[in-house]
Amino acid sequence: MQFAYGARIIGVGAGLPSSIVTNEDLTKLVDTSDEWIKTRTGISARRIVKDHETATGLAIEAAKDALAFAGIGGDTIDLVIVATSTPDNLYPSTACQVQAAIGAHRAPSFDMEAACTGIVYAISVGQQFIGSGTYKRVLVVGVDIHSRFLDWEDRNTCILFGDGAGAFILEQTEKNDNEMLATYLQADGNGAHLLWIPNTGTQYPHAGVEPPKTVQRHLQMNGRAIYEFAVNAVPEAVRQATEAAGISVDDIDYMVPHQANIRIIRAAADRLGLSEDQIITNVEEMGNTSAASIPIALWQAISRGEVKIPSMLCLVGFGGGLTWGSAVVRWTAVDQRLSQSRKETAGATAGAGSVD
Ligand code: ACO
Repeated sequence: MQFAYGARIIGVGAGLPSSIVTNEDLTKLVDTSDEWIKTRTGISARRIVKDHETATGLAIEAAKDALAFAGIGGDTIDLVIVATSTPDNLYPSTACQVQAAIGAHRAPSFDMEAACTGIVYAISVGQQFIGSGTYKRVLVVGVDIHSRFLDWEDRNTCILFGDGAGAFILEQTEKNDNEMLATYLQADGNGAHLLWIPNTGTQYPHAGVEPPKTVQRHLQMNGRAIYEFAVNAVPEAVRQATEAAGISVDDIDYMVPHQANIRIIRAAADRLGLSEDQIITNVEEMGNTSAASIPIALWQAISRGEVKIPSMLCLVGFGGGLTWGSAVVRWTAVDQRLSQSRKETAGATAGAGSVD
């Protein structure tokens, strides 16, 4: 795809519920064990919202964190896109509320939904607007609160998910400085029934009909089928995006996959010939945070100094729809808060020296 302008990512951020729910905690709700959950999924704990916490609140927190990382103000954002399957309300969009909270006065704002792949879809949409020259700075946020749509008596599903939000800031560059090398998006609606949350839209409640007490409104999943889908979709998406970017899989420094479970991630990495230290994962601490999982995982790895800069990343998502997709990104962004504090420390040291 030829664009008039290039794009790069200048910020990443996260918004997390404060409450941590461990596998041990879940053994009080369902017949499970820490050992079963860890070996089957790699998950030890997840963040779960308290009653007062909302998808909008987490999205705003992630957006503000990404703005601080980039060292820019919210009023410089030209477009806000929020990817979510679990908004607080059908409307207004989460994006409009984020726009107001960060003071992005002139930014059109909208939500989009591609389940766990939502953040990859949002990055790709943001890149189109930047590449065409329409907008210069785009905020994309992924947020999901699956805990409100889980059956906490169903051990097959309630152990898998966590809540959270993650954000990226995309900025226009000259064509020659482009760092967003390629994106790849896919969908197959024939697999819609494999992962879904029924009766949460206009099918329920039916107008004028008293809804039966037994209506099921919880996430439903065919775990085996999703596993099979994911271990094929991830390698395909990585290969397609790297080919479109004109590089090979060997040129990737890190894969940042959707954090569904460690077995899927490792099986996909094996098929691609990627080693353990090339996989960015935090599923152990966060569980599956759906549209938020990719930015949260990258944010955490960068915060811990685990990502060399610059590096070549492949972000890769998969989820309900079915949807899957990837983005090859050269990562050069550094946290402006750290650069600032280094400058201040250097200034203070120089100042201290000159007193003598
Ligand atoms: N604790 C203890 N036992 C459990 C639990 C649990 N939490 N959950 C299921 N079991 C039992 C089952 O009841 C079953 O018992 P049975 O043999 O007596 O019927 C047994 O464990 C084996 O169940 P399986 O479903 O065969 O377990 P499997 O090894 O396939 O692992 C899992 C299940 C982890 C869900 C696997 O299918 C998987 O990884 N699927 C991918 C799904 C996924 O990651 N979804 C995330 C959301 S989708 C997304 O983000 C795109």
